[in-house]
Amino acid sequence: MTSEKVLIIEENNKRRAYLARFLSKLAFSIDISPSFSEAINRLHKQKEFALVVAGLSPLESRHLKILQDIKKIAPQLSLIILFESDSPELAISLINQGLVDHIADPDNLPGIYSAIRNEINKRDLIRENESYLQSLKNISSDRSENIRKALELENIYNTTIENLMTALDLRDVETLGHSKTVAKYSEVLAEMSGVKNMTTLENIRRGALLHDIGKIAIPDSILLKPSELSAGEWEKIRLHPALGFGLIKEIKLLKEAGNIILYHHERYDGTGYPKGLKKEDIPLEARIFAVADTLDAITSHRPYRKEKSFGKAKEEITGNSNSQFDPHVVDLFCSLNLDKWEKIRFETTKILPSFELFQQIKEERSH
Ligand SMILES: [Fe+2]
Ligand SMILES: [Fe+2]
Repeated sequence: MTSEKVLIIEENNKRRAYLARFLSKLAFSIDISPSFSEAINRLHKQKEFALVVAGLSPLESRHLKILQDIKKIAPQLSLIILFESDSPELAISLINQGLVDHIADPDNLPGIYSAIRNEINKRDLIRENESYLQSLKNISSDRSENIRKALELENIYNTTIENLMTALDLRDVETLGHSKTVAKYSEVLAEMSGVKNMTTLENIRRGALLHDIGKIAIPDSILLKPSELSAGEWEKIRLHPALGFGLIKEIKLLKEAGNIILYHHERYDGTGYPKGLKKEDIPLEARIFAVADTLDAITSHRPYRKEKSFGKAKEEITGNSNSQFDPHVVDLFCSLNLDKWEKIRFETTKILPSFELFQQIKEERSH
């Protein structure tokens, strides 16, 4: 036990000596003041006291002012007063006013000792509590700071992916906004097929946004060629899923995103590319995406043909159920009213410039 410093104020010489002798034997380091004015001076200068023991027998009216002064100078100090219980009401009123923490009989030495110990224990508990509270506050503020940073980073990450794909939409023959629309379609179909995990849904959304990222590596001369492609050129185009998959490995996207990028041209009957996977060997997210991608391709304006209605798209998709598409995903698509799909498309493309403006930008670029 460290030796706690106790200030004793006792005007009565005999009592002062007696208290000092007793308390100094009990692992306290004692300082003694023979008068209140001297004690107040000392409290002004010295801050290391654990508590004050003040003898107030007999209790006089001037003591009230003295106690107030001590509390003002050292509000953190516990104050034990010693006095004979000749006026208990007055003593209780001192406690109620918060001027005094403990009262002990001046002749009851074990009582004084116990009062001192209680006050020291109380102070230690308060300190411990304060330090716990402080660490809790630190932990929670560190945490919210980390969460804020993570969200900020996530936001930047998502915006980067979206911007990257908008840039690619501008370069490619597909329509502006295609990536955002198929991302939302895929997310909705994934939810309908029972995917609940938010991270999985987010990865599906990102994979759909980035599905054609591999086209970055395909030269303009092939990608934008207005005439028919040769067999060799088709070969190059067909590399884009694997090229894209290679790219995203670098940016550490998770499984579902990679599956969409690598397998989005696989067909349910096994005649797709790059691997010719069949049925459930194709990851669910890629089977979902295939329907989403076709829905937007059919209902969007292309330079070489006009867009078709959502009703027409539904006919084409159901007509290719089991060959190009997973029949289960086709059923999910059909179970949602066409108005809903059209609404999604409207929402994801409404802030984008018109198709005509988009065409103009692309034409200027190719000159
Ligand atoms: Fe593609
Ligand atoms: Fe696409």
